[in-house]
Amino acid sequence: MTDQSSNQMWGGRFAAGPDAIMEAINASIGFDKRMAAQDIAGSRAHAAMLAATGVITDNDAEAIREGLLTVLSEIESGSFQFSTALEDIHMNVEARLKEVIGEPAGRLHTGRSRNDQVATDFKLWVRDQFDAAEKGLLALIKALVDQAEAGADWVMPGFTHLQTAQPVTWGHHMMAYVEMFGRDLSRVRDARARMNESPLGAAALAGTSFPIDREMTASALGFDRPAANSLDAVSDRDFALEFLSTASICAVHLSRFAEELVIWSSAQFRFVTLSDRFSTGSSIMPQKKNPDAAELIRAKVGRIFGANTALMMVMKGLPLAYSKDMQEDKEQVFDAADNWMLALAAMEGMVKDMTGNRESLAAAAGSGFSTATDLADWMVRVLKVPFRDAHHVTGALVAMAEGRGCDLPDLSLEDMQGVHEGITEDIFNVLGVENSVNSRMSYGGTAPAQVRAQVQRWKEILAG
Ligand code: ARG
Repeated sequence: MTDQSSNQMWGGRFAAGPDAIMEAINASIGFDKRMAAQDIAGSRAHAAMLAATGVITDNDAEAIREGLLTVLSEIESGSFQFSTALEDIHMNVEARLKEVIGEPAGRLHTGRSRNDQVATDFKLWVRDQFDAAEKGLLALIKALVDQAEAGADWVMPGFTHLQTAQPVTWGHHMMAYVEMFGRDLSRVRDARARMNESPLGAAALAGTSFPIDREMTASALGFDRPAANSLDAVSDRDFALEFLSTASICAVHLSRFAEELVIWSSAQFRFVTLSDRFSTGSSIMPQKKNPDAAELIRAKVGRIFGANTALMMVMKGLPLAYSKDMQEDKEQVFDAADNWMLALAAMEGMVKDMTGNRESLAAAAGSGFSTATDLADWMVRVLKVPFRDAHHVTGALVAMAEGRGCDLPDLSLEDMQGVHEGITEDIFNVLGVENSVNSRMSYGGTAPAQVRAQVQRWKEILAG
């Protein structure tokens, strides 16, 4: 033990003394500097309001306004010296403002606290990310709608249990994801509307005795209204949790689609060719073209949902109002937001660039007895056989074809009549995959006409 400033019991692990360790665990400037623009916007709104209500003079407010603009430009140009000793972005900005304008800087913090300040900054930051997510989702939805329109009538196998089930259309499959991302979009809009209340002016927790105008700061910052309870305003992180849960659900959708692209782009499937721009090669196997972007998108849900879980755990059991635990909110949200936006952009790029392989899709569509249900339905419709019986007869025919190593349309009429005497030549019309998909005209079904109707509906939504 040579370093006397280190704690005798545990200091050996640390080069620095307790004060430095306290500073290291306490400081958030390393990450909350990302909220500098929001912090300065909040301070400008607050200062203008303090002058309008007569709490500070117009001269002081003007000095603060100009000083804050100087600080902002220093931060934007990269010349600003961030200090860990000053803990966080709020104190870094205020301390620099003091250096730039002197005494009036000390009046800025009248009628507010870092507790409402950080809640305001963070809300503004998260709100921007909701807006970015909305843009990213709209772009992705558009790319999917374009794919669906181009291949509205391309047949492919539809799966359940990843076993061939019934033929579907490429367009229908693309539009399934449009619905999912459409719900994500509605969750984003919904959460954004709910979170758009201003915490500013809640002060430390109880409000303030100064005659502040919370409507004024709320509207200057684009909030719909001031938050109605000061205790809630400084301790609420629902908006961050909703952001993370919305991101998590969307990341699940991205992951499911990414997984399909990984499977579809394999040599065994060849359903889709991903562009070189979104693939990588192997350093040892020359034939390889790897769907790395899809794999990484598939994985992103891990860290995004991890952030959601982490912040839920941070918030659970916290008494009102602010506790320092809540400083642990930002890194989770920053990381999740960065990766969510990246995954959305990468998926959009991949979808735009990918080519559905119409021939491979069609070849696969007919295999695996995919039109067995059509056969059974035909017996019900034409022969008036109860569906359960038709199901049984079809099962026997599938077993026969399987035994012979052929598909259902390869069986002869005699073979079929041997199983059920009522079957006629007409059956061969329904065993084709084109016929199968064309017949699925129920609302929301896979028929190309239904797909085109949904494409049209979404085009109108996107244009609106
Ligand atoms: N850096 C803090 C945070 O992110 C700001 C609020 C500090 N408030 C306090 N009372 N110490 O939560």
